[in-house]
Amino acid sequence: MKILLFGKNGQVGWELQRSLAPLGELVALGADSQDLCGDFTNLQGIAQTVRAAAPDIIVNAAAHTAVDKAESEPELARTINALAPGALAQEAKRSGAWLIHYSTDYVFDGSGDRPWLETDPTGPLSVYGKTKLEGEEAIRATGCQHLIFRTSWVYAARGGNFAKTMLRLAQERDCLSVINDQIGAPTGADLLADVTAHAIRAALQRPDVSGLYHLVAGGETSWHGYASFIIDFARQFGIEIKVAQDAIQSVPTSAFPTAAKRPLNSRLNACKLQNTFDLDLPHWQTGVARMLTEFLEKQL
Ligand SMILES: NC(=O)c1ccc[n+]([C@@H]2O[C@H](COP(=O)([O-])OP(=O)(O)OC[C@H]3O[C@@H](n4cnc5c(N)ncnc54)[C@H](OP(=O)(O)O)[C@@H]3O)[C@@H](O)[C@H]2O)c1
Repeated sequence: MKILLFGKNGQVGWELQRSLAPLGELVALGADSQDLCGDFTNLQGIAQTVRAAAPDIIVNAAAHTAVDKAESEPELARTINALAPGALAQEAKRSGAWLIHYSTDYVFDGSGDRPWLETDPTGPLSVYGKTKLEGEEAIRATGCQHLIFRTSWVYAARGGNFAKTMLRLAQERDCLSVINDQIGAPTGADLLADVTAHAIRAALQRPDVSGLYHLVAGGETSWHGYASFIIDFARQFGIEIKVAQDAIQSVPTSAFPTAAKRPLNSRLNACKLQNTFDLDLPHWQTGVARMLTEFLEKQL
């Protein structure tokens, strides 16, 4: 089996390089790959790449993920998040390949407090959310066999992330302010990559699983709850922390104005995925604790 991966250096793409490797021959591309075009601003180039590589599975982990920046460069965001996935889907349809793609909780308007179902109406608040939704629709419109995984609050051990930023601030400052009215589930890139590998194997046996799935770690929290967990974990780990636990202040989203509006309710109901693929998604704290342990061990 041949797998063609786009976006190999992103949080999810990096973990996919690990999780997809045992499934078959893996060709992994980044935006600056030389032999084959992996640049999503070159729509003809990526279509030619699919034709030349002739994969059984195309996995797209590339995206314009700079949510605030997307507000000022909507055409670029649309090309990368909507037109390029659409071009990949056309090639998948033509060749009979599967297309695996990731989308976001930002396709919803964030109202209410119930976890969103795949069948719920969308209502993106930002350019990022709108272009990601258009990408989903472009894939569906081609009729290719696909798995679209909507996820939220992605973190990875590699590179910078919210947890590392909070740890640094907690070591430097007496007081922190963290948003408490956006609710979601921090989801590890490693979990996304592992579930993707399981789902690909199932899809090859059961083509009827083609469709849209919510894929997030279990449980829910706010950014404030997430930060408090991280800082408490580090303190118990023996790391010297300056901020007292009661000096981590809860503030509303309005305290940190941003170019892009973010949904308050980012809860995603992942029952469809768990039932279809017979998987149990671990609680978000399990993956965050693991990532923190690996990171903090290097600090001691
Ligand atoms: N991060 C989150 O919190 C989050 C939440 C919900 C859903 N998602 C979705 O999950 C998926 C994976 O996200 P992630 O967190 O792994 O994102 P990420 O770490 O920002 O990685 C995105 C990748 O896309 C690449 N890329 C950007 N512009 C490109 C272009 N013109 N051509 C080719 N590649 C390009 C980037 O390459 P460079 O590194 O070279 O720029 C990077 O490797 C995306 O579909 C995203 O929308 C993410």
